[in-house]
Amino acid sequence: MLNVGRIARSVLPGGIYSWLRATKGDYPMQNFDALQAELEGRAKLVIGDIREIHDLESVFNDTAPLGFASIDVDIYSSTRSILELLASTPQRFLMPTVQLHFDDVWSEWGYNKYAGELLAIEEFNTLTDVRKIDSDRYVDYWHGGRNPWHASMFMLHVLDHSLRLKPNSGRPKVISE
Ligand SMILES: C[S@@+](CC[C@H](N)C(=O)[O-])C[C@H]1O[C@@H](n2cnc3c(N)ncnc32)[C@H](O)[C@@H]1O
Repeated sequence: MLNVGRIARSVLPGGIYSWLRATKGDYPMQNFDALQAELEGRAKLVIGDIREIHDLESVFNDTAPLGFASIDVDIYSSTRSILELLASTPQRFLMPTVQLHFDDVWSEWGYNKYAGELLAIEEFNTLTDVRKIDSDRYVDYWHGGRNPWHASMFMLHVLDHSLRLKPNSGRPKVISE
């Protein structure tokens, strides 16, 4: 049996696949401060195991709620950890809809709703009645027609968001006076 530990695949010029062996401890964080400084305050780096982030309140603040996330953690369990955070985060840290990009949902036969990211999404939708992830049905429209990557675009619907629960103006609606 091949004992490869963690494997990362990369594509070489010319389309040839190469396999890179990596083990725990490879590619350590080298200069966190330099990387954070390069971002000039536009983003905050949070580096570590997602399973150790117990709530998104420690990551976000409610003056800049989450509007988009690109999720690229390769496997079912890690994706599920992220989605559990999105299920439990108080609504004020989220926009009423949060656009989500999942990279491993099309282009290979192994990407289906019984495994990986798509399974994590399926299960997310059973966790709570007030947060649901669905495909993004606007994306073809906004990006000039169909494109394969559009299958990667999803929307988190925050059905318990205060803006979605807001009553209308309160004035009675009248068709003609
Ligand atoms: C394909 S790579 C992402 C590459 C990244 N999008 C980029 O452009 O550099 C997948 C990454 O998910 C990370 N990952 C998987 N499970 C994780 C977890 N539980 N916590 C933190 N990172 C995790 C892996 O360490 C790996 O770096």
